[in-house]
Amino acid sequence: MEDSEKPVLPRIVTEVPGPKSRRLIERYRNIFGERGVPAIAVEKGFGCIKEDVDGNRFLDFAQSLCAVGFSNPDVIEASTGQLRRMIPRDKGAEALLGFTESVLSRLPGGLKEGRLNLVVSGSEAVELAVHLAREYTERPLILSYLDSHHGHVGTLFELSGELGIDVWTAKLSDIVHIPYPNCYRCPFNQEYPGCDMLCLGYIENIFETVARPDQFAGLLMEPVLLNGGVYIPPDEYMEGIMEICRENGIQFIADEVYSGMGSSGEFLAVNHWGITPDILCLGKAMGGGYPIAAVATRREITDETRGGVAFTGTFAGNLVGCAAGKATLDYIDENDLIRNAKDLGRYILKSLVSMSEGKESIGDVRGRGLIIGFELVKDKSTKEPATEEALSVTRRAMGEGLLLRRYGRYRNVLIMTPPLTLSREQADVALEIIEKVVK
Ligand SMILES: Cc1ncc(COP(=O)(O)O)c(C=O)c1O
Repeated sequence: MEDSEKPVLPRIVTEVPGPKSRRLIERYRNIFGERGVPAIAVEKGFGCIKEDVDGNRFLDFAQSLCAVGFSNPDVIEASTGQLRRMIPRDKGAEALLGFTESVLSRLPGGLKEGRLNLVVSGSEAVELAVHLAREYTERPLILSYLDSHHGHVGTLFELSGELGIDVWTAKLSDIVHIPYPNCYRCPFNQEYPGCDMLCLGYIENIFETVARPDQFAGLLMEPVLLNGGVYIPPDEYMEGIMEICRENGIQFIADEVYSGMGSSGEFLAVNHWGITPDILCLGKAMGGGYPIAAVATRREITDETRGGVAFTGTFAGNLVGCAAGKATLDYIDENDLIRNAKDLGRYILKSLVSMSEGKESIGDVRGRGLIIGFELVKDKSTKEPATEEALSVTRRAMGEGLLLRRYGRYRNVLIMTPPLTLSREQADVALEIIEKVVK
């Protein structure tokens, strides 16, 4: 089938999940138990569409790995070409150097001349970022946010018996959690903008009561809180946080594992505020679907620490991933996909805001580019979370051919992160389905 003939719209031909999916899901259960049981069994994907083994097609708004769509022809060509040449890492390979130069050239400010450290997963990227901040500043503490998600590894450095590794090691007691600026459910019961930025003031409070600012190595932040329910900090907050970091020598560590690679309508979400992080974590869509992740730092942070090594882990810098990642970046440029994410994101956001006016259950709509969330509540005035309703909306939407994901503290925020290749027609179909399945 020519790419131009590939289906772009959902099509439901059986009950969902269909009979073939159910058989595969049963096999999954036999192996993995009840953890993370898939809702459908996917056979293939093209663009923003996933097709299951029963022939049902879904618009995938729940993905986070393929910025340029599933089975992107350029990514396939680049990665299969590389598969034939050389699979694992080779430090002098054009595929590796071309890709990493291309990543660096897109970073803001001094990070362009900074250093990259390659790892395999987003979790490893964040782990390494925190180690680098600690070792560079020779300070133990890290500020991190409540409701954030940064990954799944953590004790491996402590478990390793190598000499000197204790310099970097994180103890849970070395982490101080602060509330994320959440203007819909303000932790201080305030209304933005008349709130005096109490969430910023809280940090000063920590410095007076918990530990001195010069004991903090870094502040780790998702500039758009994704798994926590799509929250976008006000401009004053970001200005204030950068000032606190600058004044106190605290390294600003941006976790853009999810929000990077153009989905926010800028290459990085921090670009919305003109911020250059000291340390930046990238992953997920970076490798075009292959496991590639990275930590970029100001040059001296990597050069002056033992933790800063070009490749952490046996699989870091896999050449097929590099080739797929480079093809992804080129495809984004050639097709102006970041602009598409910005424009379509605005359109979807605006449409959802007007939809929410006629719907009792949509309490709030938030987003930047093609990172969009809408929060379901039982009552708009009390904001009581509608957790069960959110689950039922994801099921009904799937039955109509739209895959959504449920995030947030109360699992009542439906989030959408479709590939950046999304078209206006696909956005309209998704909006029609949401209109139909949300009360
Ligand atoms: C913001 C953020 N950081 C880090 C991670 C961890 O990445 P990985 O699952 O590749 O280890 C995730 C994964 O969802 C994430 O969303």
